Amino acid sequence: MGKDVIVACDFSGAEQTFSFLDRFAGLERKPFVKIGMELFYAEGPAIVREIKRRGHRIFLDLKLHDIPNTVKKAMAVLSKLDVDIVNLHAAGTTAMMKAALEGLTREDGTRPLLIAVTQLTSTDQDSMERDLLIDKPIDEVVMHYALTAKNAGLDGVVCSPLEAKKVHARCGGDFLTVTPGVRFPEGDKGDQKRVMTPADAKKIGSDYIVVGRPITAAKDPVAAYKRCCDEFCG
Ligand code: C5P
Repeated sequence: MGKDVIVACDFSGAEQTFSFLDRFAGLERKPFVKIGMELFYAEGPAIVREIKRRGHRIFLDLKLHDIPNTVKKAMAVLSKLDVDIVNLHAAGTTAMMKAALEGLTREDGTRPLLIAVTQLTSTDQDSMERDLLIDKPIDEVVMHYALTAKNAGLDGVVCSPLEAKKVHARCGGDFLTVTPGVRFPEGDKGDQKRVMTPADAKKIGSDYIVVGRPITAAKDPVAAYKRCCDEFCG
């Protein structure tokens, strides 16, 4: 695992998703895809099974956050779907993260990779202080959550490519950094504020980049995907 491009399939239904994925049918190695809440809540586990049957690896981005027992049981269900990566909020605390790992681990000892969301990139210093009553600098909070996730036994974190280097320095080079916010130099940033090119994300040491619109909204998504792979994995 590691050094791969994950395509964010941010579509609202199965039809749109499969007509997009059909474009990649000719590739020897099917893209790693991210399924988020919108698609999962619309189509349920069936879409995960079908995408898996078609030979894709899957990052199921559902960001679980609940009491440890509930998360443990939910993770056991997700583990049976044979996904490759799942995630949760580190804010659920160490007890929740450890329970999640227990739930995910199958009888034969295997399990999907488990990564944590630290602070959402939509949370800034102001909203963190005002709404969450956390008054430490946000960088410090992100690094603390990453270290807590590492100590709980998780495999990595979702973070901005700009944070990947610091996370590796703090948590070790084998602690995975999965980074969205990737754009081609000439591309539209959309609503992403802090972006990086695939080539720079590679330089800075991201393990996986999560790329949505630069691929899904491209005139030729397969060419855009290949370009990401060449620049990031090559
Ligand atoms: O279209 P774009 O490349 O911006 O898509 C990025 C993907 O990564 C989306 O699915 C978005 O929800 C997700 N993501 C993000 N920033 C985070 C966490 C997840 O952009 N901090």
